[in-house]
Amino acid sequence: MVFKHIPVMLKECMEGLQPKDGGIYFDGTLGGGGHSYEILKLSSPTGKLIATDRDSEAILAATERLKEFQSRYTIVKSNFKNFLEVLAERNIFGIDGAILDLGVSSYQLDNRDRGFSYMAKDTKLDMRMDAGSSFSAYELINEYSVEKLRYILSTYGEEKFANNIAKNIVLARKDKPIVTTGELSDICDKSIPYKFKKDGHPAKKTFQAIRIAVNEELDGLDTAIYDIFSRLNKGGRLVIITFHSLEDRIVKTVFNDIENPCKCDKRYPCICGKVRQGVEITKKPITASKEECENNSRSKCAKLRIIEKL
Ligand SMILES: C[S@@+](CC[C@H](N)C(=O)[O-])C[C@H]1O[C@@H](n2cnc3c(N)ncnc32)[C@H](O)[C@@H]1O
Repeated sequence: MVFKHIPVMLKECMEGLQPKDGGIYFDGTLGGGGHSYEILKLSSPTGKLIATDRDSEAILAATERLKEFQSRYTIVKSNFKNFLEVLAERNIFGIDGAILDLGVSSYQLDNRDRGFSYMAKDTKLDMRMDAGSSFSAYELINEYSVEKLRYILSTYGEEKFANNIAKNIVLARKDKPIVTTGELSDICDKSIPYKFKKDGHPAKKTFQAIRIAVNEELDGLDTAIYDIFSRLNKGGRLVIITFHSLEDRIVKTVFNDIENPCKCDKRYPCICGKVRQGVEITKKPITASKEECENNSRSKCAKLRIIEKL
């Protein structure tokens, strides 16, 4: 299958990041290399890029896409949460900008073999970004307790019917393991009362929740943002695109904390000594234009936040 992914808010991200000749940039979520390509182009002729992704197929596609920039980029198959090590191993101490375009790519979602999609009926449940990891949606669905399933569905999917779905998963797997995306999708369908099925596909929230849990997408995201921010040079910017409220809440909270680290009672002199390290450029998140939303439905729920190192 051809790797297809349209980079979201490309123009807005580059306006935020402002790549320059001579700069060093980090793309934590390389994907098909759409944002990376533009960073390398705008930082020509000597700007450098270091990029990570957990997905070998994304790395293959991006390597091909970026090949015209030759020695100006390094791709590392890694979680961006290992950012500090990735930089240290290459003796890089400061960067001029970074981007995180969170979640999964269209390629991952659309490729039936990856088991992310509730649209593909007979695909094995998988949803791993890193196909080498030993824990997939199959293990989660067939091994987790009803309480754990309920927690995941309600926390990561904000699914109102988490309880029904979790109970029906456990009931269904008593006879035989739940193997395919179609089987899980049917369980969701029968767990949600008819009148509540108007707001999108009945399995949408469940699949989102399981994907987030399998890939531990939210665990340690806050620490990764602090880490990346800590290595920005003065004036360097961190640009983050999120696709659901849980991610956005984390980004918003961390940016806020960086901008206002002192939590001392304002009526008295500060005793913590913490000073502002950065300023959020986007007081409100930037969203995709109407035109972009029409051309790329994925961009509809995207939110872009930018912070600058002081
Ligand atoms: C939305 S896509 C990025 C698309 C990319 N910006 C482009 O323009 O082509 C997200 C990518 O980030 C990867 N990813 C998600 N979380 C990651 C993490 N914690 N560490 C490394 N890669 C991650 C996914 O495997 C996926 O390829």
